[in-house]
Amino acid sequence: MERLGEARTRTLELIEPLDDDQLNRVYSPILSPLAWDLGHIANFEELWLVQTIGGREPLHGELGRFYDAIENPRKTRGELPILRDAELRSYLADVRERTLKVLDEVDVGPDVEEPLLREGFVYEMLLAHELQHNETMLQLLQLVAGYENENVRLGPSTVPDAGGPEMLRVEGGEHEIGAHARGFAYDNERPHHTVELAPFEIDRTPVSNGAYIEFMEETGAEAPLYWERDDGGWVLTTMAGRDPVIPAHPVLHVSWHEADAFARWAGKRLPSEQEWEAACVDLDGVGQVWEWTSSDFLAYPGFQAFPYSEYSEVFFGDAYKVLRGGSWATQSSVMRPSFRNWDLPERRQIFSGIRCARDL
Ligand code: AVJ
Ligand code: FE
Repeated sequence: MERLGEARTRTLELIEPLDDDQLNRVYSPILSPLAWDLGHIANFEELWLVQTIGGREPLHGELGRFYDAIENPRKTRGELPILRDAELRSYLADVRERTLKVLDEVDVGPDVEEPLLREGFVYEMLLAHELQHNETMLQLLQLVAGYENENVRLGPSTVPDAGGPEMLRVEGGEHEIGAHARGFAYDNERPHHTVELAPFEIDRTPVSNGAYIEFMEETGAEAPLYWERDDGGWVLTTMAGRDPVIPAHPVLHVSWHEADAFARWAGKRLPSEQEWEAACVDLDGVGQVWEWTSSDFLAYPGFQAFPYSEYSEVFFGDAYKVLRGGSWATQSSVMRPSFRNWDLPERRQIFSGIRCARDL
């Protein structure tokens, strides 16, 4: 219960500096207005906890269909008859009150029949969902001019100087991939399995802005999203705006195509997601940027959708590329070596960066 409260505190802290107009505004066709994310967070909680587990009726009848992420593509979300302003804030609070009552009534031990309750699955899912949407909200907040928030760290830190060799050597052979059957993980991380990998090397740190600028200068590649030329240098145009690009920071907001091109230019390649996971135990600098991999978002052998096919299954295929790790905007409690993020290869609004690999 305590962790749900902490997640909510963070959600509310993120929007604390904003007025209702900023919550409702559509800043980009590929990002939801913040009001949609907020209502969706509450509606997801109402659907899974209050309705499915608690057997209660929803507070606003059919409203839930406007918060269905599949039914309502991002570019349509600003026009939907979703909750706004004071009504939105009460919905968040009222659902949470009902959720806490339901959670009080149920047994979430390791031996309960209901798989949603076993080991607190639904509780962990809610928590992860809210924190993941905090990151989506931070993607949108990059576009809010003058956004400042003393309670929230906004931006990456310096890529650690690895010292010693630039790349880490990973032995070939069998490597374990995915989440074990127990404990919280999303369906797409299961089942746990082994894969056979050829030996490879992987960079010990994510690619820095400095290295990316060299790549741009040599190849004429486009700058990352949110960069602008200023006096011969580069500045970031996000939020407060026009801060100089710091060469030692990891590069952010690059597409899969750009990440792939950078890796080739460097005489390397992107790691597969299996290689990334096999190396992850020893990797430096994980948690600053999501790291593009060469892998399509596919089901693991023996995959079973749980608790709903719209979380992962409908996205499987060659349209989406997998990202691994986590960014400065990801809460550490939702980062784990088996976690798989995914997006379209042309997308740059996510906090995406690059780590390169090479055959041995
Ligand atoms: C894992 C980030 C691709 O935002 O579509 C949020 C996470 N799923 N609500 C997404 C998610 C349902 C998901 N990503
Ligand atoms: Fe969601």
